[in-house]
Amino acid sequence: MSRPAALQTPTKTWRPLWWAYPAWVVTVLVCFGGYALYAILDSTHSGQIGPYLSPFYSPPWFKGFPISGAFYVAWIPLGFRLSCYYYRKAYYRSFAWQPPSCAVSDRPGGYEGETRFPFVFNNFHRYFLYLSIVVVGFLWFDAISSFIYHGKFYLGVGSVIMLVNVILLSGYTFGCHALRNLVGGGVNCFSCSLADRCRHNGWKFVSFLNGRHPTWAWFSMFSVGIADIYIRLLIHGVFADPHIGG
Ligand code: FES
Repeated sequence: MSRPAALQTPTKTWRPLWWAYPAWVVTVLVCFGGYALYAILDSTHSGQIGPYLSPFYSPPWFKGFPISGAFYVAWIPLGFRLSCYYYRKAYYRSFAWQPPSCAVSDRPGGYEGETRFPFVFNNFHRYFLYLSIVVVGFLWFDAISSFIYHGKFYLGVGSVIMLVNVILLSGYTFGCHALRNLVGGGVNCFSCSLADRCRHNGWKFVSFLNGRHPTWAWFSMFSVGIADIYIRLLIHGVFADPHIGG
């Protein structure tokens, strides 16, 4: 008589692809980091063409300065991402293998977190948040300005890319864990006054965005790269921007 299926000895042990996540993170972050470095150090142009300004170069206050204008600005969003709680998890696991995956043990030495150089700088995340909110404000200005050229309405592929980019960046920035703590932390009563109720609504909104923080993180990173590549190709005359109006 054959044994019930549940009691049969498995012939093959199933193992989850625990290495897939670290491999994905390493590949994407190395590619993006390399591209960002190239974009920041490329001083052959100002990142600006027609109504468009690359997100790496905003605000455009540093034209004519030594090195690229992006060099003086891009450290803010890059520092914000590097110190982000989600990205920390991603790169601690993927680059440092501490641990490489949930059920896979740590490398010897253990987790030291933010206690030593250079990771101690991750404790400045909230300050990068404050600066990044200002940068996102400039990016909203750039995105809205990209719909106006020579005083007339302009709708190009680049305008849409810039708008999508700033929406994704806003979702990422305003879903930050540090902002959630700032808006909703240290309150004993969310309904005791009008100010408390406002904070509660703000906290619910940040929490809503925060629930998809990894998704915002990846998509906004891709959109920054796509916006910069698109504008860079226009600057180098690879193709013309399809548009109406202007
Ligand atoms: Fe990710 Fe603050 S925790 S941006």
